[in-house]
Amino acid sequence: MPDKITIAVSKGRIYDDAIPLLAKLDIIPVDDPNKTRKLVLETNQPNVQLLVIRATDVPTYVERGAAELGIAGKDVLMEYSGDDLYEPIDLGIAKCRMMLAGLKNAKPIINRPRVVTKYTNITKNYFAERGQQVEIIKLYGSMELGPVLGLSDWIVDLVDTGNTLKANGLVTLEHIADISSRLVVNKAAMKMKNATIKPILDKLSEIVSES
Ligand code: ATP
Ligand code: PRP
Repeated sequence: MPDKITIAVSKGRIYDDAIPLLAKLDIIPVDDPNKTRKLVLETNQPNVQLLVIRATDVPTYVERGAAELGIAGKDVLMEYSGDDLYEPIDLGIAKCRMMLAGLKNAKPIINRPRVVTKYTNITKNYFAERGQQVEIIKLYGSMELGPVLGLSDWIVDLVDTGNTLKANGLVTLEHIADISSRLVVNKAAMKMKNATIKPILDKLSEIVSES
């Protein structure tokens, strides 16, 4: 009898990219999360269920064992402060870059630079490593507005095509990290449910290395 496995997947663009990967593992959700109000999705595999949840919640579910496996962006994992997670596979999906950006025609900054971001830990660590003092202002979205409305000098956010920055008169200033989605595994489950989890990891590694 295979172990019961719960996989926590970030909503939105990671879910869209993760579904084809899971299909290659022959894990196919029975319901479409965009059409059901169910929060736990059964799959064609009787022992596997999916949770489709907020990106920032995935590490919490997996670290605390509510889900054995998770799929989350490296941005979310870098921002998360726990350390009880294995991160064995870079899935190579939802790729983008974490960047420092500012106004294209910015005036010189006289005082301590102000940075808006939802990634306050990453931003704090980045500037601490450079020995630069900044004031970090937390926002939950639309970070690009910060410099446009004079709330901040810079932003730290994800950039893919660069269209959002460009449309708001911003340019990239520094590259902070390359981002993609990772498989995360609960440490205890890795031992206790190894017979079920190991084949999933092996097959995923194979699929990712072929793509
Ligand atoms: P929440 O609603 O929980 O705040 P979110 O709005 O950040 O989450 P998404 O925009 O779907 O949710 O982003 C989820 C993940 O997708 C991010 O954590 C990141 O890893 C990746 N991602 C975000 N923006 C991009 C992008 N422009 N291109 C590629 N991947 C991205
Ligand atoms: C993300 C990110 C940027 C945008 C970058 O936002 O926060 O705003 O994508 O992508 P681009 O370089 O291709 O324009 P998202 O679309 O996820 O919106 P949200 O942060 O409001 O959820």
